[in-house]
Amino acid sequence: MSGRISFLLNGEPRSIGDVAPTTTVLEYLRGAERACGTKEGCAEGDCGACTVVLGEPAGDSIRYRAINGCIALLPQIDGKLLLTVEGLADGAALHPVQDAMVAADASQCGFCTPGFVMALFAFQHGGEAAHADAVHEALAGNLCRCTGYRPIVAAAERIAGTADQKFAALEPTLGAALAALPRDDLALAHGADRFFAPTSLELLLALRAAYPEAHLLAGGTDLALLVTKEYRALERVIAVTRVPELQRVVSDDTTLTVGAAVTYTDALLAIERHWPSLGLMIRRLGSRQIRNVGTIGGNLANASPIGDMPPALIALGAAVTLRSLTGARELALEDFFIDYRRTALRPDEIVEAVRIPLPRAAELFRTDKVSKRWDQDISAVCGAYRITRAGDRVTDARIAFGGMAATPRRAPLCERALIGRPWAEATIEAAVAALDQDFLPIGDWRASADYRRRVAGNLLRRLWLETARPDIPLAVMAL
Ligand SMILES: Cc1cc2nc3c(=O)[nH]c(=O)nc-3n(C[C@H](O)[C@H](O)[C@H](O)COP(=O)(O)OP(=O)(O)OC[C@H]3O[C@@H](n4cnc5c(N)ncnc54)[C@H](O)[C@@H]3O)c2cc1C
Ligand code: FES
Ligand code: FES
Repeated sequence: MSGRISFLLNGEPRSIGDVAPTTTVLEYLRGAERACGTKEGCAEGDCGACTVVLGEPAGDSIRYRAINGCIALLPQIDGKLLLTVEGLADGAALHPVQDAMVAADASQCGFCTPGFVMALFAFQHGGEAAHADAVHEALAGNLCRCTGYRPIVAAAERIAGTADQKFAALEPTLGAALAALPRDDLALAHGADRFFAPTSLELLLALRAAYPEAHLLAGGTDLALLVTKEYRALERVIAVTRVPELQRVVSDDTTLTVGAAVTYTDALLAIERHWPSLGLMIRRLGSRQIRNVGTIGGNLANASPIGDMPPALIALGAAVTLRSLTGARELALEDFFIDYRRTALRPDEIVEAVRIPLPRAAELFRTDKVSKRWDQDISAVCGAYRITRAGDRVTDARIAFGGMAATPRRAPLCERALIGRPWAEATIEAAVAALDQDFLPIGDWRASADYRRRVAGNLLRRLWLETARPDIPLAVMAL
């Protein structure tokens, strides 16, 4: 077990012992390192001013991904390379991403600029083309209040698909330095605070049993906000992200199984292949910075009534595997959510994986989210529908909504109004009327109760229109 956090900061080794485990990467950089290029705007993962890049070994090379330093806890970067804006330029010679920003006049006050530069560094290293969707996706997690986005997009287009010669030359050295970092179980102590990052399932379960009151930590995109927004002390934290069993994406003829600690970024392609609309939903979830660390396991365990994954996974008939030292059990996801932010997870259990049945023939699946903004916004209403038809008749329907009740859940009356009926406008109108009986949504600052009810019904109407009138362009973004 290691009691120190080891990482590389812009290539230089760091080994940190006595630090509060809930110190954020941003606090550490601006405090202990006096590396003030990385800014704090919102401290909740929304603005991107704090964007830094994490490098991790990937085969013979290094994989670079942008994250939000404001909601990353320092122990989460153990074993990794942390790149900040201070590490890009070579003396007076700017990095090509910085050159592109200058050439495109993409900075005014400069507050957001280091965050954009780091997001663009990761974009350049991702090897994506200068396609508008790719640029949009790469930059959706960064806000600029004064320059306007057109020049920043122009900077992204300049560097898309280009090589980074400086970092290509540095790769062997950085790779060797990364490989030399300790990869042990982490057990940090600071005053009364304890932070564990076990590397085996056995140790994770033993720690869970020993500390049932501890907070489990995956990407921290929900949990870290308790620290940065509610100023809560998290005395015991157990990270689940280093356990290989929780990091797998496995598929067979009938099921796709996604480990609870797999990030959205890593799960995306496997999910999108089978369910394009769920893929699109993931591409809209948070920002790339959020998806690079956030996990589906965290989204389920967090049990928010407005999380984006539960409605889709409930409609798809997914099940969660819950594990403790005494063994594993599987639960239909719809039975996992028992009340507002309460799940069926026992104190000694963790979520190990989610198992999703693969699509069958004649199955229509869609999931939709209505929020005030396209990206980086939580749903007002999130709906998901799996409809099976034989000829023009509906033989099965699983419909689930988020934002309509204290938990994400199915719409049984609406489903009943569809099953056995023709897939026709009159059936849809009856199903919309039934949906009104299924839920009594609340009104809040995101949306009024009436808006939620109308939107839910309209989403169902839109699904029908998509199949009945494919000539009408309904999608905001193509699947
Ligand atoms: C800027 C921003 C934008 C966001 N946008 C969206 C959005 O569009 N849609 C959306 O649905 N969510 C959104 N979120 C919320 C969040 O990103 C997701 O809920 C994400 O999936 C949480 O995953 P995580 O790995 O970060 O979880 P964490 O924050 O690490 O954990 C979340 C909860 O799950 C528990 N937990 C984690 N892993 C396990 C496990 N294996 N077993 C048991 N318990 C576990 C933790 O103890 C904690 O209670 C956003 C968050 C931010 C900060
Ligand atoms: S400070 Fe706004 S995303 Fe981190
Ligand atoms: S340049 Fe001022 S906020 Fe972007």
